[in-house]
Amino acid sequence: MTLLRVDDLEVSHGPLQALWGVSLTISAGEKVGLLGANGAGKSTTLGAIVGHYPAQAGRIQFDGRDETRSDVNSRLSCGMALVPEGRRLFVEMSVRENLEMGAYLAGPRRALAQSLEQVFTLFPILKEKERQAAGTLSGGQQQMVAIGRALMSRPRLLLLDEPFIGVAPLIIRDVMQALAQIAADGITIVLVEQNIHRALEFVERAYVIENGKTVLEGSRDHLLSDPTFGAKLLGLD
Ligand SMILES: Nc1ncnc2c1ncn2[C@@H]1O[C@H](COP(=O)(O)OP(=O)(O)OP(=O)(O)O)[C@@H](O)[C@H]1O
Ligand SMILES: [Mg+2]
Repeated sequence: MTLLRVDDLEVSHGPLQALWGVSLTISAGEKVGLLGANGAGKSTTLGAIVGHYPAQAGRIQFDGRDETRSDVNSRLSCGMALVPEGRRLFVEMSVRENLEMGAYLAGPRRALAQSLEQVFTLFPILKEKERQAAGTLSGGQQQMVAIGRALMSRPRLLLLDEPFIGVAPLIIRDVMQALAQIAADGITIVLVEQNIHRALEFVERAYVIENGKTVLEGSRDHLLSDPTFGAKLLGLD
């Protein structure tokens, strides 16, 4: 079953057009990567999917419904959640308060205790630090809070924008394992990741975005055997 379908998406930031035709088809339960050079449009794509940026052309469908013009809260309530670039935590608030923020809509609010339990099972260190200000945590622990906050909205689709930036190498493995567990629990994952080998180790297939367009798509083996893959990743093709 197709969970997310994006057709020929175009998005501008003010006068600057960032996306010129992004198309993605993602099935429920898949783990999919989004690769591309700096400035290619990966973050803009994720932001447009969750409704932070309006589509000026193209279409976004989720679970068979057209969501192209719906607002951020409707997309959140139908099951999309973004772990944004740079985490965006409330650093002065406690870990637990940050997590609770993820459950502000009525449905997730009712399931708050159960969701918190699930996040603490996934990231036990957050239970130990639940009363501490989020800003006092390590980079990796803050990333766990950002992922946990997204999970508190009980998503069906989790979009992650470079979740390993600022995370110590030893902790990257823990976070990867948690993401694998989240996927095993049935949540569909779209991962933006700069480290191609790390990304392709985790996802089943990936799209390459170059200059605001999806230009290549396929499994790890398919991508690695495509002679244009390297140039497209660098935005030189
Ligand atoms: N808020 C914004 N205002 C103006 N221009 C923006 C904004 N966000 C992104 N851009 C521009 O849109 C284009 C796409 O940026 P985007 O952040 O989506 O790329 P990216 O693939 O995520 O890059 P990176 O790997 O550096 O995170 C770039 O030219 C960027 O400068
Ligand atoms: Mg980005």
